[in-house]
Amino acid sequence: MAFKLNVNGKSLSADVDGDTPLLWVLRDSLGILGPKYGCGIGQCGACTVHVDGAPVRSCSVPVESVGAGKVVTIEGIGADPVGKKVQAAWSELDVAQCGYCQPGQIMSATALLKGNAKPNDEDIDAAMSGNICRCATYVRIRAAIKQASGQKAQA
Ligand code: FES
Ligand code: FES
Repeated sequence: MAFKLNVNGKSLSADVDGDTPLLWVLRDSLGILGPKYGCGIGQCGACTVHVDGAPVRSCSVPVESVGAGKVVTIEGIGADPVGKKVQAAWSELDVAQCGYCQPGQIMSATALLKGNAKPNDEDIDAAMSGNICRCATYVRIRAAIKQASGQKAQA
């Protein structure tokens, strides 16, 4: 069946079964390749996107549950002032190593800063604990979040 989705401010449609995970729809039907497939079971965070501003694991969200929710992916997060700051900090501190986990990391970091403009280390660890990085860029991720929030980065 055809599902209409609002992705990065555009109205798009995909003809898929309702239980198809949002990640599959984004990548395979809509060609939006920023959200990555890591584990497929909600454990790694590589597939993180926002739905109505909340970070969700798109591998574990059936497309039929999205409805009129506004989906934002890494491709669209730079249009958000907070997302733009996060991306700039990521680039300035050269956070990415292989890069595979980083779209999800940036989406989680942006959601954190939109809800908590000055997170401390514990806030950051709690918000980012579901985003796994096999290259272990965690120190730079934390520093970039601090920098994006206007706090002194300590990388
Ligand atoms: S691919 Fe979705 S959480 Fe790992
Ligand atoms: S940068 Fe390689 S998995 Fe995170």
